[in-house]
This record gives sequence, structure tokens and C-alpha cells, in this order.
Amino acid sequence: MGTKVGFSPTAILCLLLLFCLGCKCLASEFEGTQTATVRVDASPGLARKIPDTLFGVFFEEINHAGAGGIWAELVSNRGFEAGGPNTPSNIHPWSIIGDDSSIVVATDRSSCFRRNIIALRMEVLCNDCRAGGVGIYNPGFWGMNIEDGKTYNLVMYVKSPETAYLTVSLTSSDGSQNLASVNITVAGTSNWTKLVQKLVANGTNRTSRLQITTNKKGVIWFDQVSLMPADTYKGHGFRTDLTSMLLDLKPRFLRFPGGCFVEGEWLRNAFRWRESIGPWEERPGHFGDVWHYWTDDGLGYYEYLQLSEDLSAAPVWVFNNGISHHDEVDTSIIAPFVKDVLDSLEFAKGSSNSTWGSVRAAMGHPEPFPLKYVANGNEDCGKKHYRGNYLKFYNAIREAYPDIQMISNCDGSSRPLDHPADLFDFHVYTDSKTLFSMRNTFDRTPREGPKTIKLWFLTVNIFVNMIRAQAFVSEYAVWQSDAGKGSLLASLAEAAFLTGLERNSDIVQMASYAPLFVNNNDRKWNPDAIVFNSWQHYGTPSYWMQTLFRESSGATVHPLTINSRYSGSLAASAITWQDSGNISFLRVKIVNFGSHAVRVRISTTGLEASVNELGSTVTVLTSGNVMDENSFSHPKKVVPVKRQLPDAAENMQVQLAPHSLTCFDLTLTQSKLVILTEKGDEYLRSGI
Ligand code: AHR
Repeated sequence: MGTKVGFSPTAILCLLLLFCLGCKCLASEFEGTQTATVRVDASPGLARKIPDTLFGVFFEEINHAGAGGIWAELVSNRGFEAGGPNTPSNIHPWSIIGDDSSIVVATDRSSCFRRNIIALRMEVLCNDCRAGGVGIYNPGFWGMNIEDGKTYNLVMYVKSPETAYLTVSLTSSDGSQNLASVNITVAGTSNWTKLVQKLVANGTNRTSRLQITTNKKGVIWFDQVSLMPADTYKGHGFRTDLTSMLLDLKPRFLRFPGGCFVEGEWLRNAFRWRESIGPWEERPGHFGDVWHYWTDDGLGYYEYLQLSEDLSAAPVWVFNNGISHHDEVDTSIIAPFVKDVLDSLEFAKGSSNSTWGSVRAAMGHPEPFPLKYVANGNEDCGKKHYRGNYLKFYNAIREAYPDIQMISNCDGSSRPLDHPADLFDFHVYTDSKTLFSMRNTFDRTPREGPKTIKLWFLTVNIFVNMIRAQAFVSEYAVWQSDAGKGSLLASLAEAAFLTGLERNSDIVQMASYAPLFVNNNDRKWNPDAIVFNSWQHYGTPSYWMQTLFRESSGATVHPLTINSRYSGSLAASAITWQDSGNISFLRVKIVNFGSHAVRVRISTTGLEASVNELGSTVTVLTSGNVMDENSFSHPKKVVPVKRQLPDAAENMQVQLAPHSLTCFDLTLTQSKLVILTEKGDEYLRSGI
């Protein structure tokens, strides 16, 4: 009788359990640290110079980026025009001090400025009014940042038939804390008088207001009341803290002033450069109906050009081409708009003797601005009159300014444009996976140029259906749920996308993130690169990610290959660049978009220089949670962390953190490092 070997149901269950556990262990082994090899081929023959213009910034008047943002003016609605030209009008955010039985304020059309005719008439009914007097106050843009010891320049226009006694003060938002105060006597006259006064703060308050009070009966008119901090960047009116954030990006261009802001929902509300230049008091201001707020246009066309100069960035002027979101000018009657744009170019580039160049000179800039790029509208390619209008602008500008590079709104990334252009706009807002995968988009862009036909007597370039334009990725960002108000996840997908732009920088000439700024009190668009309020600011991870690409413009890009089972989650690029002290670096940036650590070996071939351990660094942008964001309370939660790389060598093994951007900067000892010139010619630099 043989022995029967049998398994009880309990034993079978146990065995199954053990089997499952074993599988799980194996699986987690597989899912654990991944490996990859990144091979950089630095052979001179494969190296290519990246355009000097590759990475810049796009400044749009959105989210109060300008008014109540980088433009340091503290008074909102300084000319009382925001309520419109009809009187009486709303004077928001101005308000009264004292009860309304003692004071009556109303707008009328008595200004001394023709283009902004509205002024404020204040009638004081009390004599020896109660302590503190009655009057008006302006809270600025969600409160004025007044800092102890700092000077504020007040300018205002007043008119009073009888002598008036005013007190101008900076106070806390409820008026209880006095930060600065000055008494002003206004001589009685029927003419307008310009008053200029310095106020020095004796305390700090981040949400202050400007008060103008009196305690004597009478009638006084006010107009164009301005309060500017004395210390603005280079004295040009830009908030220093926000400007330094831009300088840290080393932007090679500044695209301005929009975006949809340029178009308007309706043409009557579009940005008009002509209305934004000249003495600030005379600018009418306008209501930007796309982002729904009034701008006094203190930050006007001239100031945008000035900001470009201050940032050493090439200006990119996006002009309105007779098209808004809801109305369009027919091509047959577009001529005045073309003339208007030609005038704007003369204003920027003309000699100081020219009609418009002289206006620029009178504003303080006799030298022309080096305006070389203009964009013909914004996101208008599909509009009925776009192509017709485009050609009218294109031909007129080409003839008058052959050096100007023109940007079309039509996408030429997958097929050549059907009209002449130097660059085409490419905008992308999407989820993180899609943007990560778009790192290869420009690999597929046609490279061929215009067809050239040689006849025996002349050479003709055929421009029909075969225009080679360079790409200007003028707006890119991850948005919606993957981005929140600016997540690490978004910045990683964007970094991967940018490595693709570096690789394809033979066809991609320029790129900028969007939007650049948000005032935390008026978030019209999420996410943004730089968040601020009246006195604080921080960069989102997308801002910090861009700082790791700031050396790429004008550098040399090298091909690389990634070998890994995990390569679908990796993106990388390699450049060589020189710092201001002429020290050369090989920079390898690797995005690990996946949730596993990666042990990566970086190797180089063809490098005609040796890697020096001294000075080599590794910088990592990561965080505990891929959805982590920065905030006013934790402004540096997700920022790049740099450390020395102790064992730099040509064959390096390093660990990439999950969800990270890692930037290796390997110092090169230049025995014979090939640098590419603008034209792609090589020259050799000798050792350091
Ligand atoms: O960047 C925000 C907006 O996105 C821009 O105004 C517009 O060009 C795009 O649709």
C-alpha cells in the first residue's frame, strides 16, 4: 500500500502566500533603483552652437504683472480715469476719509491733460473739521509697501480757487499708524499746479495707504497723483526685487507686452503703444479687457524697451495686427494699422532727429533701442484676416527695416509655412506627461529651406509652400492639475521639454515660459514663474528650473544617447559653456521623470579637454513630494541645491533622485577645447 502525499487546503493557501510574497520581492527589486548610461559625444564635428537668443522671458500684463507688479508705482488709478470718460464715474480704489456729510467727491472733465480729461473734485463742507480732517485715500494695489527710512516721491496736480491746506500722509490701511506726513499749502489760483514732495518713512507697513486730507472748507481738484519709491532699478521705475529675479535668469530676450493683452477681447481695448508713451501724466491708461483690469500705462512701450536694455535682453515687440478676440480689421482697410506699427518701429529705432525717434529722445533715450524682433499678432493664425493682414505688415516692415526678424503666429513645426516669416510662434500649455513626451517634437520639424532655382540669368528663391522659419516657443508650461500653482512635477516636464529644444536649437531659436509673473492678489492664470505681493516674492519650481538652463544660450550642444530600460522616464542634454572667468564646463542635465532612483553612468567621448575634479559641481532640483510647491511661508521648499562633485571623472557613476532634475557641471581643463563661433566655425582655445 503506497503512501499518499496530499496537501490540505491550509497548506495550499500558505504556499500560495509564500509564492506571492516571493513575486512581490522580485517585483520590488525590479521596481527599485534603475540603471542608465548617458554617453556624451563631444566630438567637435558633432558639436553645434546654440543660438545666443535661445532662452528669454515673456512679460505679459496679466495677473497685475506690470501695474501693481514690476512697475513700482504705488498709486492705483492715479489719474481717476479707470471709471471711464463719462462723469460721474467710479473712482475705485480711491475712497473718502471722514463722513460723507462733510465731504463730496466727484469726477469731472476739468483736467489740464487733454488725453486724460477726468479729474477729481473734492468739496469739503466742514470748517475746522474733526481731528485728522477729511479727504481721500488710495490703498494702492492691495496695500502699499512702505519701508522704514526709505524715500517716496510724490507728484500730484492740484487746483484750488482759494488757498488750501493739505496734509499728505502715508499710513497703515486703517489710518491709525502714521509713517510719514507733510503739510502742503496750495496757493489759490484757477490754474493747475504740479506739486512735488518727498516723503521719508519712519516705520514699516506692508499694506499702507496714501492719504490727502484737510480740515478747511473749500473746493480742491486733484489729478495724476503718483507715489514712486525713490529706489527703483537704475532709477527706471522697476521694482528692484522683481527685476533681480529676472536678471538671475539671464534672459536673452524680452517678449512683450502679451499675449492676449496685445489683442484685447475687443480692438478698442487692445494695447496701443502710442497712448503709452510720452510724459506719464499725459497717458490716458486703458482697461485690459482680457485680464480685466485697468492700467495707467506707466509701464508703456518705452519702459518695455528700457527694461529689455536693463536686462541686456533683445526686445521682442508683439504688435496688434488689427485683430482681437472678437473683431478684426479687414485687410483692405488695414493701412492705418500698418502705419501705426511703422511709427512704433521708428520710435524704437529711428534717429533722434526722426519724428518718432525725437519723442524717444525727449523721454531720455537719444540712442535707438536695438529692436530686431517683432511678432505679428498673438495666437491669431486661424483668424479670417490673419494672412491678409500679416502680409501687409510683413511687406511694409521688410521694406522699411530689412534687419527686423518677423514672427508669424502660424505653427511651422510640422509643415512649412505658406507665407514668409523668419520665425513662427509655438505655444503649448498641457499636462506633464504630454509635455515630457514633447521633448521630441522638434526632431520631426522639416529642416529644408526655400527652394532655390538657378536660371542662366538669375537665381530665384521660391517662397511658396516652402518657407523655412525658425521656431519661437514663446509660451510653454505645464498647467492645470499637474501644475497647481507651480509644482515640481510641472518643472520636470518643462525641463525635459527644454532639453529637446536645446537638442533642436538648429531649428528652435527662442523659447520662453509663460506667464512670468503673478501678483498673489489677482491670480488670473496659474501657474506662473514668479509670485509676489506688495513686498514679498518667490520663484516657483518652474522658475528655478529655468535658472539651470540660463547658460545654454550661446553655448555648444553635444549629442548624447541614453541607454536604459528606464529611458522612457529620462531626458538629458549636454552642453559646453564658459563662465565669466573663461572657465569651461561640460554641463550634463538629466531629468528623472519617474518615481525610481536611477544609478547613472555618464561617459564622454571626443572631449578635447580633460575633466578637472576641482570646481566640478552637481545641482539637484527635487523634493519629497512631486506635487510640492513653494509659497510665501516656504519660498525655498523646492529650489536647486548645489554641492561639489568630489569624484568627477570622465566615467562617473551617480545616483539620480526620483522626480528630479540633476545638473552636472564638470570643469574642463582646456588643452584643446573647440568653441564654435556664431557662424559655426571652429576655433581653438588654449589652456586656462
Ligand atoms: O500666457 C497666458 C496666455 O496664454 C497668453 O496671453 C496667450 O498668448 C495664451 O493663450
